[in-house]
Amino acid sequence: MVRTRWLGWMGAALATVGCAGAVLAADAAAAERSPSAPASGFVQQLPEPTHYRDWPAIKSRLPADPVLEARVRRIVASMTLAQKIGQMTQAEIKSITPAEVTRFYIGSVLNGGGSWPAGNKHAGIKDWLALSDAYYDASMATDAAIKVPIIWGIDAVHGDNNVFGATMFPHNIGLGAAHDPALIEAIGAATARAVRATGVEWAFAPTLAVAQNARWGRTYESFSTEGPLVRAYARAYVTGLQGDFGDHHVMATAKHFIGDGATRNGKDQGEAGVSRFDMINTHGAGYFGALEAGVQSVMASYSSWDDVAAGVDYGKMSGARALLTGALKDKMGFDGFIVSDWNAIGQLPGCSNASCPQAIKAGIDMVMVPDDWKAFIANTTRQVNDGEIPLARIDDAVSRIVRAKLRMGLFGTRPSQRAGAGDAGLLQSRALARRAVRESLVLLKNNHRALPLRRGAKILVVGKSADSLSNQTGGWSLTWQGTGNGNADFPNGESILAGLRDADGAANVSYSETAQGVDLKAFDAIVAVIGETPYAETMGDILPSATMRHSDRHPEDLAVLQTVARAHKPVVTVFVAGRPLYVNDLLNLSDAFVAAWLPGTEGAGVADVLFAARSAAGRYDFRGTLAAPWPAVPCPYAGAASDKAGRWLFAPSYGLRYPDHHVMSTLPTYPAVDACAEASALSVFHTLAVPPFALYLADGNPQHPAHEVGTDLNAVIEWPASHPLLRLRTVQVNTQQDAKSVSWLGTGRFFARSPQSRNLMPLVAAHAALQFDVVIATPARGAVKVYMGCGEHCTRSVDLTRTFGRYASGTRHTVSIPLQCFIRGGSDLSHVDVPFGMLASAPFSAAFADVKIVRAAAGRADLPCASVDAP
Ligand code: BGC
Ligand code: BGC
Repeated sequence: MVRTRWLGWMGAALATVGCAGAVLAADAAAAERSPSAPASGFVQQLPEPTHYRDWPAIKSRLPADPVLEARVRRIVASMTLAQKIGQMTQAEIKSITPAEVTRFYIGSVLNGGGSWPAGNKHAGIKDWLALSDAYYDASMATDAAIKVPIIWGIDAVHGDNNVFGATMFPHNIGLGAAHDPALIEAIGAATARAVRATGVEWAFAPTLAVAQNARWGRTYESFSTEGPLVRAYARAYVTGLQGDFGDHHVMATAKHFIGDGATRNGKDQGEAGVSRFDMINTHGAGYFGALEAGVQSVMASYSSWDDVAAGVDYGKMSGARALLTGALKDKMGFDGFIVSDWNAIGQLPGCSNASCPQAIKAGIDMVMVPDDWKAFIANTTRQVNDGEIPLARIDDAVSRIVRAKLRMGLFGTRPSQRAGAGDAGLLQSRALARRAVRESLVLLKNNHRALPLRRGAKILVVGKSADSLSNQTGGWSLTWQGTGNGNADFPNGESILAGLRDADGAANVSYSETAQGVDLKAFDAIVAVIGETPYAETMGDILPSATMRHSDRHPEDLAVLQTVARAHKPVVTVFVAGRPLYVNDLLNLSDAFVAAWLPGTEGAGVADVLFAARSAAGRYDFRGTLAAPWPAVPCPYAGAASDKAGRWLFAPSYGLRYPDHHVMSTLPTYPAVDACAEASALSVFHTLAVPPFALYLADGNPQHPAHEVGTDLNAVIEWPASHPLLRLRTVQVNTQQDAKSVSWLGTGRFFARSPQSRNLMPLVAAHAALQFDVVIATPARGAVKVYMGCGEHCTRSVDLTRTFGRYASGTRHTVSIPLQCFIRGGSDLSHVDVPFGMLASAPFSAAFADVKIVRAAAGRADLPCASVDAP
């Protein structure tokens, strides 16, 4: 049996599991039992894994069209250089007015996550449409001989998720569990109708990452760890979004090319170290499907690829000519255009957000320059005039953009004149989303037939995610991070709790988030809805030093299950999370356990299946199966990749059905593990303070109280925090919003502290160093010290005045100070609660990023203590 092969040492605990029909969604009988199953055996539609040695030529379903090509040539031939570069520029709606669109011949705008017309989160469909008309009219008001309409792009990644009132579908990881390409095509089509109704013509979807490591904060944007499923879904999704390019369709984007799901340790925007074979056949799989379906745009990935085995380092994708032009356009035959990601060009060596001839020469056709578009246009114009960027490359880029716009039928109609424009009804597809929720649920455990629930049973619902549309929808929901939303922000949605009440009768359902003080005896069953809270991109990364144990990050979930376990009533846990996590402790406290992923706005789909509600075709049963393996240990990725045994509790394709006889015995737990990496690394601040550390601002006296920098993600990102003596802002040093810039207005401290102290002496013995990146904005005139706090009345500092004095302003330096330097004079570092503090006085201003304690970093000379000591 497929499953037992994967169980490894967990096989023993699951030895009593019956196998009948539990695992394979291909099981025709199982599909019949499920009312939402399509008529055909859908799993058979999955393509076979490929074994290409080189990038294959892909046949697009779009026919060659000589008439279209002639039009493209005629339009491009009529254009001035300014018009061409304008076409290649994509600005953010916050940073560009319609008048500027006219003046600079701008080809595209986007709204980023959490950006809406007039900055209004509750903007109505008419506001979106009016803004779209305004940009369109502006693009028609230029003095160009042939006017090229603008195209607006949006991150519609689970429905039209930036738009108030729109239906949000489950995030991709849940859709992967559904194993249903026909459902995906329907979701693509519904999303396109919604986006187009607002006047927007381009969706930055689907994400085709084949995520290999659930530490990645974008795991939930990936359908599966398996290439063939991603390929089938890519094809279906693009077909649904682009359709026949009519008024109800939008241009799709296959993103992020290529290897975004392959990075080491699942680090967002990190480096893939995979072989060429894996890059093509696993991470390329989605592109085969998308290109077959005729996708018109591809977004280049922030990540990079170092093919160690072949000795080829391609660097960051936005500059990788061999892949963008060589593989994608030349070999695979992509005839649409490539757009770079948000300020991604600024990450290429020698480039800035406003200038990057390398990226254009590598094959980027449209540049996403949210803010610095004016300087970008000036720089690019100069680079073409100087011959640095060949005009032929510009013509090719513009031809690709114009071709896509012609195919999309954008010429000649205002957004508001197109069919469906302004129809608020098109924002909603509630029945489809509810079906998607039902199909995405995976039943991991069902001891003593705790499920299905009996209608009319007295049920206590507990857990922080039961009545939280914000937790249900996750990142990329109204706001970029998905934080800062309440239930009222989703007027057309239903929480899981509301769905349970509808199904069971409101009088039968009680809710208490923590279950504290509730008389548990009064209930027949308990439903605990727990899980992750929203995040997006880098903010969701789980660092290699942290465990994948859910209870470490969310102890409140373990606490509520412990509370209800005392009642000895059946406990059904619904786990709302963007990825598989180590949850053995939670499984042990639950009789039934359902992976619900991030289900979106239609929480009622959960109750449909928990109650096995009656439908036209029978009763609903679970039909989802895992599309990624589920960890059996807190550190599933640690150690050699070859030593796989025992890492996974459930293999891909695992998932129970109601008729299965299944008893899961108590699983082993690992309470003592508090870190996955060796003791050599301690991350203190990496985009955010790494728990248990938090950041503080304070005056110069270590005995005085400190002001904690907020931990709410949005607050941290937007926060120009003020303190009488210090100003703090979030800025970029390496990647977006990864650094804190601190300006001293008087004498003050900026530091990271944990509630408990730790013993750094073993790290001292291992020759570890405190390391951080710094960019000095205003040089200090007085002393600057870095210090560690070692308990009450104990600080140990190292003077950095001379070191910083040698650094040029505006350039990044990596400072590495041996811990040894902090322990002169008989002091020790056995009780450190502040591993990093900066003490300085005005004037001084600098940005700090990536603060950690590491073993002497390879290739980077530590500062000898003498060079940092005060004279
Ligand atoms: C924007 C997002 C964007 C992100 C890039 C945010 O400020 O709102 O749309 O993806 O920056 O990291
Ligand atoms: C993300 C993309 C997104 C873009 C625009 C980037 O940060 O990586 O997926 O499409 O922002 O919001």
